[in-house]
Amino acid sequence: MDKKEISRRTFITTSGKNAIAAIVVGPILVSQCLAKNTSGQMTPVSIDLSDPGNLSLTTIGGSMKIINPLDKKRPIIITRVSETACTALSSRCTHLGCELSLPENSIITCKCHKSQFDLTGKVLHKPAKKNLKSFSATLDGSILTITDLPA
Ligand code: FES
Repeated sequence: MDKKEISRRTFITTSGKNAIAAIVVGPILVSQCLAKNTSGQMTPVSIDLSDPGNLSLTTIGGSMKIINPLDKKRPIIITRVSETACTALSSRCTHLGCELSLPENSIITCKCHKSQFDLTGKVLHKPAKKNLKSFSATLDGSILTITDLPA
């Protein structure tokens, strides 16, 4: 028998295993899709700026990343822009999706193809053409609350 040929028994056994895997995995994939479709906006995230772990946000120009509940691969970049305000932007570059670094001198630069964005997410330098997704960032005392903006 040629090495590339498979026996009828091997074919039936392998096909059976794949069919069982499809039956088991199929409903899991569907439930994950439904969870994303039905979740709508993200649950608000609160950050206590008096926590030593969030010290970078107590200084104007300071920034940090937090997990994005809607996109676990691309965190949210939070930047303190004034005494009373912060911005919150997706770190997913709108060109081809690379993760953006924290801002330097109030500019967010993509390492992949050098697109640049300001602290409101506006494109300053192509190749990106779309602004970054932004989130609502509300500062109340030392508590910063990040919420999804209405579509
Ligand atoms: S992915 Fe960011 S500039 Fe291309």
